Amino acid sequence: MNSKKMKYLFLTVIAAIIFTLIFFSCSELETDIPSLQKESIHGEGVMILGHPNFHGNYLKNADFSNCQQCHAQDFNGGATGVSCVNCHQSITIHKTGINNESSPNFHGDFIRHHNWDLTDCASCHGGAFGGGLSSPSCLPCHSSPGGPASCNTCHGSTDNPNRIAPPLDINNNSSTAIKSVGAHSVHLYENTLGNSVPCSSCHTVPQQVNDPGHVDSDLPAEVILKDLAAAFGASNAAYDSSAATCSNTYCHGSFQFFRDSADATNRFAYSSDKMTGNNQTLMWTNTDEFEIECGSCHGLPPEGHIPAPITACYTCHQGVVDENGNIIDKSKHINGIKNARGL
Ligand code: HEC
Ligand code: HEC
Ligand code: HEC
Ligand code: HEC
Ligand code: HEC
Ligand code: HEC
Ligand code: HEC
Ligand code: HEC
Repeated sequence: MNSKKMKYLFLTVIAAIIFTLIFFSCSELETDIPSLQKESIHGEGVMILGHPNFHGNYLKNADFSNCQQCHAQDFNGGATGVSCVNCHQSITIHKTGINNESSPNFHGDFIRHHNWDLTDCASCHGGAFGGGLSSPSCLPCHSSPGGPASCNTCHGSTDNPNRIAPPLDINNNSSTAIKSVGAHSVHLYENTLGNSVPCSSCHTVPQQVNDPGHVDSDLPAEVILKDLAAAFGASNAAYDSSAATCSNTYCHGSFQFFRDSADATNRFAYSSDKMTGNNQTLMWTNTDEFEIECGSCHGLPPEGHIPAPITACYTCHQGVVDENGNIIDKSKHINGIKNARGL
């Protein structure tokens, strides 16, 4: 060991001894008069919920810039050594621009980049987002039932709580050429051929924003085709996200109806042992008319059906189509029920 290193070692040992002496004498002092030091800054009850001096109340007459003077700009404690972030992970959201949609500090973007987690916000802003001890309410701006946790806040139309499917998608896109938007509207809100397709035919639907499998999984959104999409045994119905295609869905003609299992009085309508649809594979992002025009999902009439002109369908499928072949009752078309002869 050279003399330089020896010197360092000596100084280090001395420093350690001095530090230990100071440290222990201080703690002795603290055991003698226990609460003096703590009270010197914020007084008693800082951490006692319900106490008038509870720190959550301070913000009633101050703002965060006040706390940041000592607890550091990023709330990490700074010289005080008391980090707010340890207990309030999302407190760092409170920056200039938090309410400005064009600012990089906008709260919507913060939430997007933090797994869409609203639970920490709710710990201060109130369980129902109606405000806490000193945290303002979110509801003046987010007025849909449920406030920010309502189903149209992060996807769908922010002005209309009845439109919760994209557009807008979760990144605020509205083009139907993007698969996250795709053909939602024509299935749900502009469906002229059948009833609005419920979310549950294509997704597992959360009851609450924090339900497992909802915001906690990575994009793309899970698409699980079931119910109507898989009616009459269309069990291979599937969506392929990489190609953005749907295939083998009952709705788009993956059906086979068998003469032997038909009602005896309806068997006359079969020209073969079964009637089959056209079983289309479609691009979810192509909302062109031709894919959904009359005759695309099934022939007019379908294969295996006795021949009839389009102007005659109404004679046996009364209440479903009119004499010109227009659908007159959407609830009877693409509903998973064979509507013929008055049914
Ligand atoms: C040891 C944990 C802890 C630390 C550290 C802490 N807090 Fe809190 N704070 C709480 C708890 C617990 C509540 C009660 C509400 C809740 O359940 O989150 C609370 C409530 C609050 C509230 C009131 C929310 C309302 O009801 O409106 C504010 C504001 C707040 N804290 C700010 C701060 C700031 C600023 C710091 C840092 C200087 C800080 N807190 C440090 C635990 C902590
Ligand atoms: C003048 C500096 C200063 C300001 C301003 C300040 N603090 Fe503190 N705070 C401290 C120091 C130093 C400590 C650590 C020593 C102590 O606990 O007394 C502390 C501790 C705390 C603690 C932990 C107390 C405990 O017993 O563990 C909380 C919570 C807290 N501050 C909240 C706040 C909030 C909320 C604000 C803003 C309204 C704020 N402080 C503003 C200096 C400050
Ligand atoms: C530690 C408690 C606390 C947490 C956690 C918290 N906030 Fe706040 N928030 C406040 C307080 C207090 C204010 C009032 C502003 C101030 O005093 O500077 C505020 C202000 C706001 C504002 C401005 C409101 C207005 O009316 O101008 C928005 C927006 C906001 N918070 C969103 C959020 C979001 C989103 C989260 C979760 C990601 C969140 N906050 C987490 C306490 C909190
Ligand atoms: C805080 C933002 C937020 C709120 C509020 C929200 N969602 Fe979502 N939702 C998302 C995100 C992000 C995704 C994409 C999740 C993924 O990556 O799969 C999503 C996806 C979905 C999907 C597609 C299937 C899936 O889980 O991927 C459905 C259906 C859905 N949400 C329904 C709802 C309903 C119903 C509500 C109201 C109870 C709701 N959402 C509220 C953010 C939100
Ligand atoms: C001053 C008005 C205002 C306040 C207060 C406010 N918000 Fe927002 N928030 C908006 C606006 C504007 C948007 C962007 C448009 C939209 O999606 O509604 C938004 C967007 C959001 C989004 C969706 C992000 C996205 O792009 O899809 C969430 C989640 C959210 N806010 C949560 C909260 C929470 C939680 C609070 C309370 C802690 C809160 N907001 C308080 C105005 C506000
Ligand atoms: C006909 C089937 C179908 C129906 C019905 C449907 N979706 Fe979707 N949904 C999809 C497909 C396909 C995607 C795209 C998945 C991908 O990105 O590859 C998707 C994606 C989504 C996404 C993710 C958006 C994003 O930004 O990535 C959300 C959120 C969503 N759907 C919500 C809903 C809600 C809410 C409903 C009911 C109100 C609904 N969907 C009804 C098929 C459907
Ligand atoms: C998106 C696919 C699709 C398109 C496009 C379509 N159909 Fe259908 N259609 C079906 C399916 C699936 C059935 C099977 C029975 C059911 O579930 O309603 C059906 C059944 C029928 C029936 C039998 C009555 C019934 O509903 O059970 C008639 C008649 C009919 N369609 C006429 C038409 C006419 C006319 C058009 C054009 C205006 C048309 N369809 C366009 C999917 C389609
Ligand atoms: C002479 C009566 C008759 C005419 C005309 C007729 N159908 Fe049908 N069709 C039936 C009957 C009865 C069934 C039910 C078979 C069963 O129960 O399995 C049926 C079944 C169907 C089915 C499949 C099962 C269902 O009910 O959805 C489709 C699709 C269909 N017809 C479409 C048409 C179309 C399109 C036309 C006009 C181009 C048409 N039919 C004209 C009697 C007729």
